[in-house]
Amino acid sequence: MILDTGILSNDLNDNSFKKVTLQNNEEIVIGKMNGKLYAFNNICPHRGASLAKGTLHGNNIVCYMHGYEYNVFTGKLENMKSWKKDDRWMEQTLAWRHSEDLKTYNIYEENGKILIEIN
Ligand code: FES
Repeated sequence: MILDTGILSNDLNDNSFKKVTLQNNEEIVIGKMNGKLYAFNNICPHRGASLAKGTLHGNNIVCYMHGYEYNVFTGKLENMKSWKKDDRWMEQTLAWRHSEDLKTYNIYEENGKILIEIN
């Protein structure tokens, strides 16, 4: 299913991102990096934090909660160092540390609008 994100191409600056709520109530982060669009689910697959509160590190979004990093284009979990560096997380179990990859979506521009494909 193709949905209109409600964001116009001109409203999204390069190297920035925005959180949008789609008609089906899914919260999505859409962004543009070096002219290339990306879209991913706002819910961190680790423990559910809002990824829109995170920061970019290269091609990765860094979750503000525990610092896990996910590639914004592929969704792949790229880095989960925080529990190794920070004593507070050392005693956490493997199950607690585990994270799936981030859910990403196809996104494109058409007639000045940014559209997203939801399955
Ligand atoms: S909730 Fe995002 S890294 Fe833990």
